[in-house]
Amino acid sequence: MSLKTSIIKEYEKKISLLKKHNKYYFDEDNPKISDAKYDVLKKEIIDLEGKHKFLKKLNLNQGVGFSPSNKFKKIKHLKPMLSLSNAFDKEDMKDFISKINNFLNNKKEIDFYSEPKIDGISATLVYQNGKLIRGLSRGDGTTGEDILENLKTINKIPEKIKGNNIPNLLEVRVEIYIGKKDFKKLKENFANPRNAAGGSLRQKNSNVTAKIPLKYFAYGFGAVEPMIFKTQSDFLNIIDLWGFSTNPLIRKVKNLEEIEKRHSYIDTIRSKLDYDIDGLVFKVNDLKLQSRLGNTSSFPRWAIAYKFSAEKAVTKIKKIIIQVGRTGAITPVAQVEPVTVGGVVVSNATLHNEDEIIRKDIRVGDTILIQRAGDVIPQVISVNLSKREKKSKRFIFPEKCLCGSKTFKDINKTTNKEDSVRRCNKGYECEFIAREKLKHIVSKDALNIDGLGKKVIDRFWELGLIKKPSDIFNLKFEKIKNLEGWGELSINNLNKAIDKSKNIELDRFIFSIGIRHIGQENAKILSGFFKNINNFSQLFESESRKKILENLIELDGIGETQIVSIDNFFSKKINIEILKNFIQKLNIQEFKEINKEGKFSNQNIMFTGAFEKMSRSEAKALVESNGGKVLGTVSKKLNFLVTGDSKPTKKKVEKAKKLNIKIINESDWYKILNL
Ligand code: IVH
Repeated sequence: MSLKTSIIKEYEKKISLLKKHNKYYFDEDNPKISDAKYDVLKKEIIDLEGKHKFLKKLNLNQGVGFSPSNKFKKIKHLKPMLSLSNAFDKEDMKDFISKINNFLNNKKEIDFYSEPKIDGISATLVYQNGKLIRGLSRGDGTTGEDILENLKTINKIPEKIKGNNIPNLLEVRVEIYIGKKDFKKLKENFANPRNAAGGSLRQKNSNVTAKIPLKYFAYGFGAVEPMIFKTQSDFLNIIDLWGFSTNPLIRKVKNLEEIEKRHSYIDTIRSKLDYDIDGLVFKVNDLKLQSRLGNTSSFPRWAIAYKFSAEKAVTKIKKIIIQVGRTGAITPVAQVEPVTVGGVVVSNATLHNEDEIIRKDIRVGDTILIQRAGDVIPQVISVNLSKREKKSKRFIFPEKCLCGSKTFKDINKTTNKEDSVRRCNKGYECEFIAREKLKHIVSKDALNIDGLGKKVIDRFWELGLIKKPSDIFNLKFEKIKNLEGWGELSINNLNKAIDKSKNIELDRFIFSIGIRHIGQENAKILSGFFKNINNFSQLFESESRKKILENLIELDGIGETQIVSIDNFFSKKINIEILKNFIQKLNIQEFKEINKEGKFSNQNIMFTGAFEKMSRSEAKALVESNGGKVLGTVSKKLNFLVTGDSKPTKKKVEKAKKLNIKIINESDWYKILNL
């Protein structure tokens, strides 16, 4: 063992010991060593880091200073705390603007509000009649944790708002951070300011929080009654007058050019700011337009985070390996000499696919430039050919999957060209695919099992504890008890999380199965169609499947690609066997119609042609938020067909007439909507 390796080993041992004692002390209120001994251990770790700078880069020490607690009360947010989709360049921003214009069917310029995206910890403050009554962490976006007492220790978070016309209910969303200068004083204890802010906010004892110089910027609102704000700029200006802290760099901008200008300006000054920012958020300023735009299942359509240029670094490729994804996609990955990119040690970079390797002629031994943007896996940007060794050889992409099976490339139906992604021709039979499918099943948007992340699945897989979905529910906890890193508390928590996950909505279940081309949105559409698991299980039999698939084409959003994919999935015996066992372990809830009480409650509507005042997407969103459903084909189920003035399809109109279905023109449609 080299000296470096033995230092790392010793360091890791101490960190894991400290984590164990943190748990005893903070989570279980049951310290197993004296305070003095604990302090010695902490000091040893900090001393080691001081002596050997490379240890810090391992990023293992994320809370030696004080450890966060898990003991906060969980409270549901009044309105979900969504996250943002990302843009990385001008093209992405152009796309963002044109999607908005398309959705709103708008041709005029729209005002955007530009705000720095603070890299901190988000929280929400609820005021009733001007008095701060609740303070929650973001949590999973739906449910947060009660950290009110800790939030109250932050200067400039008003406990009582002073001002006029304060709404009875006002929820202010804030981003909490530690200034860079203040962080210097805490530096030896944390990897970065964000971790320090997070750790400090999650102290059980608010006196500890009070000692940390936390600051914040307010950036948005949740529930507000009555709604008195008209624009985002209005909102921020008014709450600034009421004593909240708002960012001084917020500005109105009105087109792509101004967006670019603002983005590059802030990029040039960002190192001088006293807080970390990782991009700018651009929001549609008019709140009426924001509400027309609404959200997709995870992001608002009216805002985006325009990230600053990714950090780059030079390194060398040690080896090229392939990885198999849950849909069988084979991705080449470059294992590189570890290098720090933007504060994180990187040792892998994605090479995307075979074509990319050929195009860039990437070889083992090459010196490459890599970049890391946000949380995505670093990418290879270019190869430095002048540094290539003479004896280097072209990389031959393997024709077989890691499991030994044949691979294939799909033919794209519209372009008739071969796909660039190679895929394994197996499903669950391929152990690499099976393992990835399990990771998907337990992930946040599927079963959402806390404590059963990707690394744990890998470990349990290798130990033979989980090989198929139903195994999750037959875990042998006595075996886990003896594993390094697992204690009574974590096992208990895992057991609870698994138990909780058994109660699952039909759409989450459908999404969890991981049928190709069935993402969250499509899973929701399918769950509305099948209504319950019994109906869904009819897909298992080939006769009934055929009939169902014929009907699926009626659903707006489900097309040929999805139908073929569903058919392929259920044609495989092994999938059905695995699913049957999985379903037995679950309590799958019936689909609940939401918003049933709207204007279009229980109605099926179809559109043909384009409207002047709104796009098809907005029309669809309006029907759905008012309790109706949009169908994709003319059938007897339709309550009415709406024809836009521009280019309605003749065939559809004729078919509707034949079936005696009510037909409504564009101006009637606006009347129904009171527009
Ligand atoms: S707006 C629905 N504005 O970024 C709109 N977020 O990725 C949601 N953040 O959870 C966010 N500065 O923690 C918004 N000026 C800003 C922000 C900001 C930081 C954080 C916030 C949010 C996350 C979204």
